[in-house]
Amino acid sequence: MTGPAPPFPTRHKGQIPVTELLAKASRSLLDVWGEEMFHSRGTVLDVLGQRLMVFNRPEAVEQVLVTQADSFAAKPAQLRKCLAPLMGEGLFIAEGAGWRGRRPATAAATACPAPPRAIAAVAAEWRDLWRTRPAGARIELVGAMEACAAELLCRMLFGAAGGRVASAELARLAAAYRGKISGKGLITMLALPESLARMRVSGEARRIHGAVDRLVEGARRLPDHPMARLAEAPGMTKAMLRQEAISLLAMGLDALAGLLAAAWFLLALSPKAEAGLHAELAEQLGGRPPEAEDIARLPVTRALLLETLRLYPPVPLLMRVAARETEVAGVPVPAGSLACVAPWVIHRHQALWDAPDEFRPARFMPDAPAPKPFAYLPFGLGPRHCVGKEMTVNMAMLLLATLAQEFRLHLTPGPLPVPQAGLTLRLAERLPMRLERR
Ligand code: HEM
Repeated sequence: MTGPAPPFPTRHKGQIPVTELLAKASRSLLDVWGEEMFHSRGTVLDVLGQRLMVFNRPEAVEQVLVTQADSFAAKPAQLRKCLAPLMGEGLFIAEGAGWRGRRPATAAATACPAPPRAIAAVAAEWRDLWRTRPAGARIELVGAMEACAAELLCRMLFGAAGGRVASAELARLAAAYRGKISGKGLITMLALPESLARMRVSGEARRIHGAVDRLVEGARRLPDHPMARLAEAPGMTKAMLRQEAISLLAMGLDALAGLLAAAWFLLALSPKAEAGLHAELAEQLGGRPPEAEDIARLPVTRALLLETLRLYPPVPLLMRVAARETEVAGVPVPAGSLACVAPWVIHRHQALWDAPDEFRPARFMPDAPAPKPFAYLPFGLGPRHCVGKEMTVNMAMLLLATLAQEFRLHLTPGPLPVPQAGLTLRLAERLPMRLERR
């Protein structure tokens, strides 16, 4: 089994000065990893007075995220500084008793039974939209999948209130906020004192709060919808409900959009994978739209998405602060150290995968050996793993199965995209593709 190896950022050789590392980090968090990191057990660095420990070994990953999760419960202050003005104490950045109180209700709400119908409706609308496009039409993939992910999530979370206009508005507002906290914006945020950093993003945050409040209000009355369920959780206030809605949207939007865009890109790069997908869809669905019950019958579609998440993990770096002095896989960890577990590195580590930079969906077929334990973690691991995991894979499968039955996307001439990352990974800023009816 072989597969294409899509481009990835240049990996420097040997040690580089911390100043150079910081300059790379301000461009993209994927650029900081040198060649050696993809072979090694990790590294320890002192950066601007903080001990930074990168853990690559599976047993270290297990200890930081699972068995010692209590010692590594806190997320870095830098992350909170960027996200708290937007999501307050929303689940993604909540800590301690606040996090423990919120997690069960939010996790239960995202497992609500209504969504598959909502997903199928959005998928059908995108199919109908693409049917109106002439043969060979240009599609800007990254923007299209952002719009699509926003619609899927809004409809799933807010029901009919989250229609196309509302979701387009939210996607626009989210992009404006992201612009303020990534790249050079991130450096500015981190350099400013707390109050000024908050002020810098207050306009964007206020607009998002307003838009989300309106959507939450519309969705509360819908039976069996996530927001209605969450609203009924004991002790849930209006402010908390908004924070949870934003936390779900903020986490879900970029990650889902990134997964969908990367999946279409990899399909266009791999005629073999594309043919396998088309064969499965023809055999299992025979031209009819997929339903929630079909998900279990589409292992090729699932494998394609799981391999996409391996090569392009939407959350490429997980960070935790050590609350107390401890030891991880035999390495002493002083209190206050920043522990880093990087899915981007672990998913492409030479000791954990065969031909790690190649796209080989067959790795995730039911008859293939399971990945090594703690070597595959696109949704994180342990008590803080993603609450949207199941829902995300189902949404992406239904969307892809609906659209790929009728359409394929071709790459247009030009260099292939090299991914970049701030808090989330981006395949490209823009990626023009050509739409073809099958
Ligand atoms: C491809 C899609 C997605 C990926 C790869 C992904 C990945 C992740 C990862 C890696 C974490 C753990 C972060 C950490 O440990 O620091 C996480 C947490 C979280 N995700 Fe996702 N996510 C995705 C989609 C979604 C969606 C669709 C939602 C909501 C509808 C969502 C909501 C959340 C929330 C609320 C948390 C915080 C959980 C907690 O701290 O208890 N995610 N996600």
